[in-house]
Amino acid sequence: MSTFTIDTSTSRATPVPVPGKRMTAPAIRARKAEGRTAEPVVMLTAYTMRMAQLLDPHCDMLLVGDSLGQVIYGLSSTIPVTMEMMCAHGAAVVRGSWHALVAVDMPFGSYEASPEQAFGSASRIMKETGCAAVKLEGGEAMAPTIDFLTRRGIPVIGHVGLTPQAVNILGGYGARGREKREAGKILADAKAVDDAGAFCIVVEGVMEDIATEITRNVGAPVIGIGASAQCDGQVLVIDDMLGMFERTPRFVKRYDDLAGRIGEAAKSYAEEVRARRFPTGDQTYRPKK
Ligand code: KIV
Repeated sequence: MSTFTIDTSTSRATPVPVPGKRMTAPAIRARKAEGRTAEPVVMLTAYTMRMAQLLDPHCDMLLVGDSLGQVIYGLSSTIPVTMEMMCAHGAAVVRGSWHALVAVDMPFGSYEASPEQAFGSASRIMKETGCAAVKLEGGEAMAPTIDFLTRRGIPVIGHVGLTPQAVNILGGYGARGREKREAGKILADAKAVDDAGAFCIVVEGVMEDIATEITRNVGAPVIGIGASAQCDGQVLVIDDMLGMFERTPRFVKRYDDLAGRIGEAAKSYAEEVRARRFPTGDQTYRPKK
């Protein structure tokens, strides 16, 4: 059974919410021409239908990131995130959007073993969610897999630099590439992913000079997160930029203090219930006179 609403641009299904033509992977790739990106690519994470509705008009891409492990499920890393979680949230985000390209993260363990395993997982994600692309972490080691997927109709976003699924190898979530050898490896990773056909590349948590080098040396748009203003676009975890958490990484700009505002709203509600000031007549059903 299909779990998503058919894309209204390609079917005669009831338009939800209005007919529109979604952003495509080739359109995102074409933003960068001859090494320059005239209009930076705007991406945010989204995990729910309602948040997708709110973000969609402002974004080129919505990423159903496996960061949902920490943000939605309270897990301590992205390692335990499952295909079922990604498919359920991916379908919700597709249902809540009509303009942005929706990309879904491939969870840890669903793609690393072989290109065939990756194809099985990616095709399931696309069938069950209706998303138009997947993202997977890794550089040179994942290049054959990215090539395999793109040749078989699956647009892929690469992800290099700080790759959170490799936290147990990296030893933490600190910025990468402080040493020359590691910086060279991150650049080689980005080039390999680019050559393999990724239509854009997320570069996370790297020194500015590495982000600059990568952006200059790959054909695909580079979407930075903690990778400076030198990239071709930016992505942030939505809950971080809305101020939902007390602590955020240094590279996050808080555009709101939603945690504070939600706390204040809950406090007012609790006070009014305890003082019997809510509900009032305005919120009460009574027989019509
Ligand atoms: O999972 C995620 O949200 C991501 C972004 C941080 C790029 O991969």
